[in-house]
Amino acid sequence: MSLNHSPVACWSSQVQLSLPSGVPEQIELAAAAFVQQWGLFDQNTRDAKPRSDCYQLTYAMDAWQLFPPAQSDGLGKHPLWVDFVDNPRFAQTLLLREPLAKAAGLRANQRPLVVDLTAGLGRDTWALASTGCHVLAFERHPLVHFLLNDGLARARAHPKTCAIAARITLHRGDARQYEGAFIDENNAVAWPIWLVDPMFPERSKSALVKKDMRIFHHLVGEDLDASALFNWARAKPGSRWIVKRPPQAPTLDAEPPALVITSGRVRFDCYLPIAASARK
Ligand SMILES: C[S@@+](CC[C@H](N)C(=O)[O-])C[C@H]1O[C@@H](n2cnc3c(N)ncnc32)[C@H](O)[C@@H]1O
Repeated sequence: MSLNHSPVACWSSQVQLSLPSGVPEQIELAAAAFVQQWGLFDQNTRDAKPRSDCYQLTYAMDAWQLFPPAQSDGLGKHPLWVDFVDNPRFAQTLLLREPLAKAAGLRANQRPLVVDLTAGLGRDTWALASTGCHVLAFERHPLVHFLLNDGLARARAHPKTCAIAARITLHRGDARQYEGAFIDENNAVAWPIWLVDPMFPERSKSALVKKDMRIFHHLVGEDLDASALFNWARAKPGSRWIVKRPPQAPTLDAEPPALVITSGRVRFDCYLPIAASARK
């Protein structure tokens, strides 16, 4: 199967909807709208047979799940889906001493707005919202957005997770469409934290990359325009900019970060405010 590394384009020709019978009507309607909007193959109508070269998007255990193509090498058989309610990795609140909280500069009693420009599967968004921050999250890949939106809807409906989910607003589309009209240039106390975590080329054949993340990488490809995204955000009012990178990766911009926090397989490059007159 050939990989497509340009953002968003062409993914839909690699996905087939496979909806089991008896799903609730609102799920059928959501599926029909999604198929129509993006032109997916649909096993339930015109393409009656399962396509072994396609991802299978299905609804099981009250959640949307994406199974890897039967024909693919190395993507395994497990589905990609978003589960904030029962996945133990989301059970703990992010502590202020943890690298992401430190990178964001979070302190007790201070919970700034976070703008997550690269929401992906929502892990960082969720971690930051668990501390009490409100998070405005953007995801441009329609299928990734679809899965994350589904995970958030279930989290909003569950008593255990509804308070955190209520602090997250998710938008679909390129984050640069967002003008940030609500940011008051003159009120520095309310300036947001900007988070950029672009897709980086997958470490080849690494057993360390979990199967669901391999599917994710395979589907989304590399974010080749990440520097442009960072520079766009850097020109906005903000209290901090965080760029998440693999430890050995070059910085996204020639500007050296004010602070670097490395932890395991992740590096956070942190940038502090620049004078308004110096913004690019
Ligand atoms: C490495 S993933 C982010 C993972 C995420 N931090 C998490 O915790 O799950 C990068 C994601 O950013 C998205 N993305 C990249 N550039 C974007 C942009 N300009 N606007 C919106 N989404 C973008 C990609 O589609 C991809 O899903």
